[in-house]
Amino acid sequence: MSATFLGVEELDGGRLAALGARIEDLVGGATATHALGGRRVALMFLEPSTRTALSFQAAVDQLGGRSVRLDPETSSLVKDESVRDTLRVLAAQGTDAVVVRAPWVGTAQLVARFFDGVVVNAGDGVGEHPTQALQDVCVLARVRGGRADAFSALEGCRVAIVGDLSHSRVARSVGRLLSSVGAEVVGVAPREWSLDPRAFGAVGVTNEIDDVLDEVDVLYMLRIQHERVGANEHVDVASYRARFQLSARRLARARPDAVVMHPGPVNRGVELDDLVLSSPQMLDGLQYAFGVPTRIAVLEALAEEAGWGS
Ligand code: CP
Repeated sequence: MSATFLGVEELDGGRLAALGARIEDLVGGATATHALGGRRVALMFLEPSTRTALSFQAAVDQLGGRSVRLDPETSSLVKDESVRDTLRVLAAQGTDAVVVRAPWVGTAQLVARFFDGVVVNAGDGVGEHPTQALQDVCVLARVRGGRADAFSALEGCRVAIVGDLSHSRVARSVGRLLSSVGAEVVGVAPREWSLDPRAFGAVGVTNEIDDVLDEVDVLYMLRIQHERVGANEHVDVASYRARFQLSARRLARARPDAVVMHPGPVNRGVELDDLVLSSPQMLDGLQYAFGVPTRIAVLEALAEEAGWGS
């Protein structure tokens, strides 16, 4: 049987609540089940990754599965074999699940169409990064409400997503999931990298970080996604830093209880300065710590949906 997690719209009330509760258990020290029981999981990472790839790998290990990593440089994708034909090979070799990251929007949907098993979207171009969103919304729920599933604590929470919105799948997934639990999301971006607020559940977009500094509870910072910036787009990093960097001086003007988040990887000294990175308001360490529990919870839930325990 197949089971998928491709986008945040699949986190309806029941699924989100169950995943949040399981993440809370795991963060509190519960151990992973043996849900994968020897099953084979392909980590198909066609774009670089540290956090997501390693957290899925750790999750597969803890769930008793076997992971195999497929990357573009060392696989026959480099010889122009298609993703669809690669999936036929994986299926023939007894693969049960595919976790896919790719530079193209819709790749996870394509995998789900041609692969009969569990499929998880680990980031598709500027499309979605749903496990990142689940992780970060649970982090924020825990910080504000004491538990990873205290989503009611996010109602009315004001979140600014700041930076290169147009190239960001994280903004699209995190913004929409936050707004679905009642947070008020606003975007901050240079005019050329702005994004229709409806694409990320926001109420609007401004072009100045200084407009929102003292109005929001959360500053969710993004890096410039150089890998998706067009070859003929000029990137003036110095000007970006001057207008959009969250510096210690700017953070001092934010609410004293405001927190700072970042999905990683951070471009230190560009969107965040060193002092902010070492500030107690910075939650990136907690975000990284939630990475494995989040992927364990997702894979356990999908294994159950796929009927692997029965
Ligand atoms: N946030 C995130 O997706 O990081 P990686 O690219 O390192 O997986």
